Amino acid sequence: MSQSNSPRKILVTSALPYANGSIHLGHLVEYIQTDIWVRFQKMQGHTVHYVCADDTHGTPIMLRAEKEGITPEALIDAVHKEHAADFKEFLVEFDNYYSTNSEENKVLSQTIYRTLKANGKIATKTIEQYYDPVKNMFLPDRFIKGECPKCHAKDQYGDSCEVCGATYNPTELINAYSAVSGAAPIRKETEHYFFKLSECEAFLKDWTRSGTLQGEAANKMGEWFESGLNDWDISRDAPYFGFEIPDAPGKYFYVWLDAPIGYMASFKNLCDAQGLDFDEYWKQDSTTELYHFIGKDILYFHALFWPATLEFSGHRKPTQIFAHGFLTVNGEKMSKSRGTFITARSYLEHISNPEYLRYYYAAKLNSSMEDIDLSLDDFTARVNSDLVGKYINIASRTAGFINKRFGGKLNLSANNGVIAEMKAAAKSLAESFEAREYGRALREIMRLADLANGFVADKAPWVMAKVEGQDDTLQQVCSDALEMFRLLTLYLKPVLPKLAGEIEQFLHIAPLNWASVDASLTNGHMIHAYEHLITRIDPKAIEAMTEANKENLTATAQVAAHGVKTASPAPAPILAPSDAAEGAYISIDDFTKVDLRIAKIVNAEHVEGAEKLLKLTLDIGEAQPRQVFAGIKSAYDPTTLVGRLTVMVANLAPRKMKFGMSEGMVLAASDESGGPFILSPDVGAQLGMKVK
Ligand code: 2FM
Ligand code: ZN
Repeated sequence: MSQSNSPRKILVTSALPYANGSIHLGHLVEYIQTDIWVRFQKMQGHTVHYVCADDTHGTPIMLRAEKEGITPEALIDAVHKEHAADFKEFLVEFDNYYSTNSEENKVLSQTIYRTLKANGKIATKTIEQYYDPVKNMFLPDRFIKGECPKCHAKDQYGDSCEVCGATYNPTELINAYSAVSGAAPIRKETEHYFFKLSECEAFLKDWTRSGTLQGEAANKMGEWFESGLNDWDISRDAPYFGFEIPDAPGKYFYVWLDAPIGYMASFKNLCDAQGLDFDEYWKQDSTTELYHFIGKDILYFHALFWPATLEFSGHRKPTQIFAHGFLTVNGEKMSKSRGTFITARSYLEHISNPEYLRYYYAAKLNSSMEDIDLSLDDFTARVNSDLVGKYINIASRTAGFINKRFGGKLNLSANNGVIAEMKAAAKSLAESFEAREYGRALREIMRLADLANGFVADKAPWVMAKVEGQDDTLQQVCSDALEMFRLLTLYLKPVLPKLAGEIEQFLHIAPLNWASVDASLTNGHMIHAYEHLITRIDPKAIEAMTEANKENLTATAQVAAHGVKTASPAPAPILAPSDAAEGAYISIDDFTKVDLRIAKIVNAEHVEGAEKLLKLTLDIGEAQPRQVFAGIKSAYDPTTLVGRLTVMVANLAPRKMKFGMSEGMVLAASDESGGPFILSPDVGAQLGMKVK
């Protein structure tokens, strides 16, 4: 039987993305994984609420807003719109997508804090921290930079060295400076609030044994218990974008205190809108289920701080925490220089169909914390062969006969072994989806698709169609094939919901749920005309996508930490080169390393196949002119550039691009309001002159 026993009440969350950067393919692993699970549970007939929100508080967001000359509220509003649109297009269907900067979250955070305090779980302690005397603010470790104490690489972050990989305390940095103002930080005392995690060990050990965590996660917990639990610093000093701590003026909750409470707040907002019972889901002895999908990098917060916070504030604990691994692309960390740091938007612009990615991720996903790899060649091959070659093929080879020869009317055979085998698979497929073994489920579904194709190939309706007196058999074979297609569509629906919707229309049937396995297309049922459902991925679109992302090297994409391995530091490098004027300083020595020259554009032309590039030939008075590919095509007709003087970086290491070597870089200005505008020197400047 396909429908599981009694309906369950389930609350599901995905990690809240930071509100200072775009959603990228690394993030999408988690949202797609969760969405498939939620859709599967809804198809089972369970009551499921899937909530999420933007994670809006903290220093990076505050400073980014300041840099952009807007309020943090304006920044998080804009990002919220962008995130919500991205999720919608990837068919990630939240029941509520909210914000941690909400009244509900403020009230819940303050109430929970007060209860923890009343239960003796809050302590204060005076600690010493780095302080920026120019900016008048305490500095998080990521905002202190300096020379690595191990390998002496310059400009390393306060917690780890990107060159040699060493980890250390900011106090160990040589010649430390504030990444915000460039000033040398001073040490300053401040009173902080702590959650007494050290007192929660017995509870947490018990909870770990209750089967809430995957094996690998439980092992990790074991390691943390062994090294001892430290009290958790939950406060930050003003200025800070967040919620003030009750009865502690100038002190704010650390972003990680109110972020998971944001799960509750998003649900509270949904409850108020839909008349649901919030307490039923969050009370100590709740019989509802609560699942958090997260990346393995934030396990510490979800498996230690979060259950302890819930326990000692009188709430239920998560039923299970589902941690997944990181995403690599082509076997390596996502990288801007390789063009594999791909945002959700860029994927949509180039590949357009979000279900290809949903299918590929599902094919790779299982219940473990192992990393998953998006191999772009394999992605193309797999989608083309499984979805187009196997699945859609069943309908495209049979529906035409039903429409043209039988007016759209079906007539199924009384007994078809392949259909019986497909129906029998429902139970084990449901088990695979339930256990988040999507790869296993899809392998089985593709085996069933092979059976269906075998059946069609064997009967060869295109041969029958030419033989007189075979009409009944032809109609039965094609009708049976469409019933097989219906079953495959049902099984794939959690992964491919939009395509399933289109197929429901074509088959002229009600929305499929898991119980529809037990139904069937019936004799006399009329289908609609078959229209082409999906197309193959063109490898050129993949190439264009990576190429476009390579060209975007100067974009200051912000990187959220969870669920993605990135070649850039995570969290994001807040200080892109353009920040220098407002923030970090470089030394005069650093500046004089850059060889800037007046260059004459002696030729400019379009580059075949490049969306954004022009090929420039630049004369800087050397024996040979330089060839430079510049991303300025959107703003310039190449003929208007010839003869102009501009400024180029002459000692940039030559870079091999798809279209040839690029031997430097021209300087151009741009921001959201326009550009690029290439720079021109004042009258009198001559080609080859040094810019100092
Ligand atoms: O790691 C991150 O991207 C965090 N913004 C996730 C927060 S999840 C939850 F706890 F709020
Ligand atoms: Zn180092």
